[in-house]
Amino acid sequence: MNVSRPGVLPQGADSLARYRSLLEPALREAVGALHPWGARMAAFTLGWSDVDGSPRQGGVGKGVRPALVMLSAEAVGGSAESALPGAVAVELVHAFSLAHDDIIDRDELRRHRAALWKAYGVGPALLTGDALLALAVGQLAGRPEAMPYLSAALMELVQGQTADMAFENRPWRGPGEVTVDEYAEMAAGKTGGLLGAAAAAGVALGGAPELAGRMWDMGRDLGVAFQIADDILGIWGDPRLTGKPVHSDLRREKKTLPVLAALAGGGPAARELSDLLVSGVDGEESVRHAAHLVEAAGGRAGAEDLAQRYVTAALGVLDECLPDAADLRALCGSLVHRAS
Ligand code: IPE
Ligand code: IPE
Ligand code: MG
Ligand code: MG
Repeated sequence: MNVSRPGVLPQGADSLARYRSLLEPALREAVGALHPWGARMAAFTLGWSDVDGSPRQGGVGKGVRPALVMLSAEAVGGSAESALPGAVAVELVHAFSLAHDDIIDRDELRRHRAALWKAYGVGPALLTGDALLALAVGQLAGRPEAMPYLSAALMELVQGQTADMAFENRPWRGPGEVTVDEYAEMAAGKTGGLLGAAAAAGVALGGAPELAGRMWDMGRDLGVAFQIADDILGIWGDPRLTGKPVHSDLRREKKTLPVLAALAGGGPAARELSDLLVSGVDGEESVRHAAHLVEAAGGRAGAEDLAQRYVTAALGVLDECLPDAADLRALCGSLVHRAS
């Protein structure tokens, strides 16, 4: 895997850079409508400025979702520009969801810098998230071919995030334990909805609304794979590449897929892991041991396997809908093997 350019995916990297350069001016214009204080916080979270408002070079997110919108539009013969409102909308929703997610998860690091709430406080970060969401809705307000997918994604996102939080109160084993199927449903919501909306809005804005329903399904499967890859990076990723804390999910005893897959394995390492989780992961040594047990119990391999199955399903739909969309296919295929 090529990890020489932190923050960039191994495949489809050129198209991501091209689409990011189309996206940024449109995003800046949208954010310019905010109250100056809100605009400053939005600029920080989007990577254009430091906490004090001084400009810095370039954005910091990978830009996967807007690239998916624009590649989908081009795959049906539309232009990337025709799909720009969709691209801006999904990136704004994504930024909103991250601002709130870091508060929910109490994560202090995002995209190699302080999380928005850490930089400005919880109230201002919540409000900035709300502002980004409002701007996103405004982008597609006059586009009935794309708006239903954005609105469905917002519902999915909230449901998925709620399920994710509710899992924290469920037991590790016995009646009420979280199943892999429940995880997949949660991930399809919190992450798949927006990827589904990106793919669906892209083809709809590109001139092929009849394909949007199937692209929505494709994106949801892709989202499950994307989330599993995120869970894997949360345990074995390099924070210098991800820009996010490592082991934060384990410390918070989140029901991530590698852990669920490890527990489902049932061998001695799975039993030891289960005992450790039930008694509580406490301290750095214990967290590292938990990570070791997840791997020893087959949780990493199981997670990689399941992610691959979801990507394969997504690519199968894509091949049926858009058999000649090589760049789009390359991007979707790359989302599961990534270093950031
Ligand atoms: C992170 O998404 C949140 C998830 C849904 C897993 P990305 O990995 O796309 O984050 P950025 O935009 O590149 O920072
Ligand atoms: C995905 O959840 C984030 C959203 C859908 C908002 P995570 O909590 O797993 O994502 P990261 O790892 O913090 O980016
Ligand atoms: Mg999080
Ligand atoms: Mg979260």
